[in-house]
Amino acid sequence: MVKVAVVGATGAVGREMLKTLSERNFPAKQVVALASEQSSGKQVSFGEEKLLTIQPLTHYDFHGTDIALFSAGSQRSKEFAPKAAAAGCYVVDNSSYFRMHQDVTLIVPEVNGNNLQSTQSKIIANPNCVAIPLVMVLKALESLASIERAVVSTYQSVSGKGRKAMDELFRQTKAVMVGDAIAKEEFPKQIAFNLFPHIDTFREDGITFEEIGAILSRRYGVPVRFENEALKKCKIRASFSGTEPLDHVASVLSAIRNGSFEQITDGTIVFTGEGCN
Ligand SMILES: NC(=O)c1ccc[n+]([C@@H]2O[C@H](COP(=O)([O-])OP(=O)(O)OC[C@H]3O[C@@H](n4cnc5c(N)ncnc54)[C@H](OP(=O)(O)O)[C@@H]3O)[C@@H](O)[C@H]2O)c1
Repeated sequence: MVKVAVVGATGAVGREMLKTLSERNFPAKQVVALASEQSSGKQVSFGEEKLLTIQPLTHYDFHGTDIALFSAGSQRSKEFAPKAAAAGCYVVDNSSYFRMHQDVTLIVPEVNGNNLQSTQSKIIANPNCVAIPLVMVLKALESLASIERAVVSTYQSVSGKGRKAMDELFRQTKAVMVGDAIAKEEFPKQIAFNLFPHIDTFREDGITFEEIGAILSRRYGVPVRFENEALKKCKIRASFSGTEPLDHVASVLSAIRNGSFEQITDGTIVFTGEGCN
């Protein structure tokens, strides 16, 4: 039997964790609920009958705790997960903080759970809630055929923004129904009966022609040059199987910018074409 700490126990995810631990009769001798100083002393439900008293994360000593489920935001994971691990506790981190860390294993049990056997790290990251079901499907498909490319659109729920956002949706929905004014705190605009086409930061998709040049160079073992610098900046989205002849690939790529290519005597491919700002 193990001792388990749920970090972020008052939050949307933390409360689900407590619910799941209880519903599944997780073999824990003790479950501890941790949150911010503001919640210290408050109580949260653990199953139908039990209540747990919130302890502040900042003063919690992780020695003697076997597993900590972290779900209190990246900053808390950054600061407290290494401390918990140093105290001998396994940390399963729900935040994004450790996902791309080299020394931390990113695990989706159904996909790469085996990696747990070889990892040295006591911190285990889990991916974003969209990525988890996606890789589970891709893994199943990959057992049937090799996947070259996946095009994915995701739709984020209000709950993804946490407990306060869900409360705001509830209050706004009620206000719409009774004709009250809509108060906005968590979202920049009314979210009830609405959806936002843009959340978070938009990133440039596609890679530049210059990067494509580097890929061609590696793939075909030839130097690549551009006649005008502005051509290097053009963003292009293209994929080739890798079996096509170089001149075919180069002619397709150059045509995208109304240009052409030439292979000069030392083998260098020189691209011409309309540049981009
Ligand atoms: N991997 C996944 O599938 C997945 C899915 C959803 C969310 N998440 C991640 O899980 C985390 C929590 O999300 P959520 O939706 O549950 O958010 P939430 O409802 O806003 O809850 C945040 C929790 O963090 C606690 N917290 C905030 N500041 C703290 C501090 N300084 N010290 C200690 N505890 C603090 C809060 O405690 P108080 O109530 O005391 O403020 C609360 O328990 C986020 O990092 C989110 O990105 C992961």
